[in-house]
Amino acid sequence: MDYGLAGRVAVVSGGSRGIGRAIAAALVREGASVVVTARTPASLDETAAALGALAPGRVEAVPADMTDPEQVRRVVDVAREWFGPVGIAVSNVIGHVIDAGKEGSGPGAGTFASMPAGEYRREFDHLLVAAWALADAVIPDMRDQRWGRICNIGSGVAREPATHLPHVLPNAVRPAVAGMYRMLAARLRDDGITVNNLLTGSILTERNRAYWRWLAEDRGSTVEEVTAGFTAGIPLRRFGEPEEMAAVVAFLCSRQAGRITGQSIPVVGGGSAHL
Ligand SMILES: NC(=O)c1ccc[n+]([C@@H]2O[C@H](COP(=O)([O-])OP(=O)(O)OC[C@H]3O[C@@H](n4cnc5c(N)ncnc54)[C@H](OP(=O)(O)O)[C@@H]3O)[C@@H](O)[C@H]2O)c1
Repeated sequence: MDYGLAGRVAVVSGGSRGIGRAIAAALVREGASVVVTARTPASLDETAAALGALAPGRVEAVPADMTDPEQVRRVVDVAREWFGPVGIAVSNVIGHVIDAGKEGSGPGAGTFASMPAGEYRREFDHLLVAAWALADAVIPDMRDQRWGRICNIGSGVAREPATHLPHVLPNAVRPAVAGMYRMLAARLRDDGITVNNLLTGSILTERNRAYWRWLAEDRGSTVEEVTAGFTAGIPLRRFGEPEEMAAVVAFLCSRQAGRITGQSIPVVGGGSAHL
C-alpha cells in the first residue's frame, strides 16, 4: 500500500535510538524527508548517518532538548529550511529519569510519599510540555498545507496506571498528555490535521533492558525474574519490537488514516480492562 508520504517532511523527537529511531526509519522508507532530534549529538549523528544511507539527502539531525520550546522552534525552522514545510511531527520524549548516574533506569522511579514537587514539574516538562511545544511549532506549517499528522509516543499507563510499579510520575502525567491531545485534535479537525497518542507497553529497547536491570537490583532479584513477571502481564506473552510501534505510526501518518484523530491507541500486546 502506498501511504502517500513521499515528499512529506517529518520531525521525530527522541529519534536517536529505540522507538524513535525505528519511527524515523519507517518514515524514511515511506519516502518522507526526516529531521531526527535528541540531546546527545554523537548518537544522533550515528543514527542520521545510518538512516541517511537508506535515503541519501533525506535525513538530517538537529541536537536539541525538546523540553525547551525555543529549541523546539529552532528544530522546526531548520527542518523547513532544509526540506520544506513540516507535515509530520512525532513527539517521543522520555520521562524525566531521576536517579543521577543511572540514565536509562526507566520511568521516574518513586512513590507518592517519596516524590517532591520539583520532580512533578520536571515530569510535566518532559512528557507534556515537550509534546505541546512540538505541536505548537508545527501547526502553522500544517495549516498552510491543510494537511498534518501529529503523534505522541505515550504509555499504556495513560489509560491504566501501573499501580504495582513505583512510577507515580508517569502514572500522573501521561493521562494529561492524552487529554491535551484530545483537545488539540478537536481544535484542528477542520484543518486536515490529525492528532493521535500511542499507548506504548513493554517494547524491547536498550533503555528498557537497562530498566529491567535496575528493577532487578532494586528488588534483589534477577533480570530473568523481572522479565518473566512483565511477560506474564502481557496478554500476547511477549515484548514488542520498536518496528511494531513504527509500523503503527507510519500508518497513522498515511493518507489513508485521515479519519483517525483524537485517539489514544494502545499498542501494548493485548487487551485491557476496558472495552
Ligand atoms: N520501551 C518501552 O517499553 C516503553 C513503554 C512505555 C512507554 N515508552 C515510551 O516510549 C518512548 C520511547 O521509549 P524508548 O524505550 O524508545 O526510549 P529510549 O531508547 O531511551 O529513547 C529515548 C529517545 O529520546 C531522546 N530524548 C530523551 N529526552 C529528550 C529530550 N528532553 N529532548 C530530546 N530528546 C530526548 C533520547 O536521546 P538523548 O538521551 O540523547 O536525548 C533518545 O533518542 C518514551 O517516551 C517512553 O517512556 C516506552
